[in-house]
Amino acid sequence: MTKAEQLVQLNTKWLTECTCELRKVATQGVPGFGNPDARIVFIGEAPGAKEDKEGRPFIGAAGKFLSEMLESINMKREDIYITNIVKYRPPENRDPSADEIASCAKWLEEEINIIDPLLIVFLGRHSMNHFFPAEKISEAHGVLLNGKYFGKLRHFLPLYHPAAALYNGSLREVLKADFARIPQILKMVEKERLCDSPI
Ligand code: URA
Repeated sequence: MTKAEQLVQLNTKWLTECTCELRKVATQGVPGFGNPDARIVFIGEAPGAKEDKEGRPFIGAAGKFLSEMLESINMKREDIYITNIVKYRPPENRDPSADEIASCAKWLEEEINIIDPLLIVFLGRHSMNHFFPAEKISEAHGVLLNGKYFGKLRHFLPLYHPAAALYNGSLREVLKADFARIPQILKMVEKERLCDSPI
C-alpha cells in the first residue's frame, strides 16, 4: 500500500473510532492533510472554526500566514504534511484538555509512523508539550530537539504558533527567523539519515 492509501485507511478508521469527547460538539473531524511523502510534518493544536466547517487543517488566517512563511523558504503547502494533536474543534477555540489530547494521541502516532518524516515541526506550545512536557516554548523555540517517539529517534523543531505571531509584531519576527532555519536543519537531518541507512 502507498503512504497515501495507508493514510486514507487510517483516517477512515479513526473518524469512526476516535473516542474524543469533542466529537459531540464539533461539526466533523479534521484529519491531517498534505503530501504523504513529505520530509516535514507540521503539528498544530486543534482545528478552528473554518477548519471545523471545511474538514481541512490550517485553512484560516493562521494557515494563510503559515503558507506565506513556507514561501519565504521556497516551500509550498504541497511539500508538507500538516496535522493537529487534537482532530476536533474545542468550543470557542479553548485550549484542548489533557483527556482530549490523549484520546487523539494514537491517531497522531500512526500518522507520523506512516509518513516517517525527517523533521517534525511543532506549531505552538500545546503540540510541543505533548512530546516534551517539560519544555517552555519561550526557551525551546527555534532549537532542534531530538527524542525517541515510539521507539524511533526523531528530530523536532518547536516554533511559536502562527496564530500567536499573527498579531504580535515581535513574535512575528522571531517566528520568521526560526522558520528561516528550516532548510539548513533539513539538510543536516537528511545527511544524518543517509549515514544511518544500511548500504
Ligand atoms: N490552529 C491550529 O492549531 N490548527 C488548525 O488546524 C488551525 C488553527
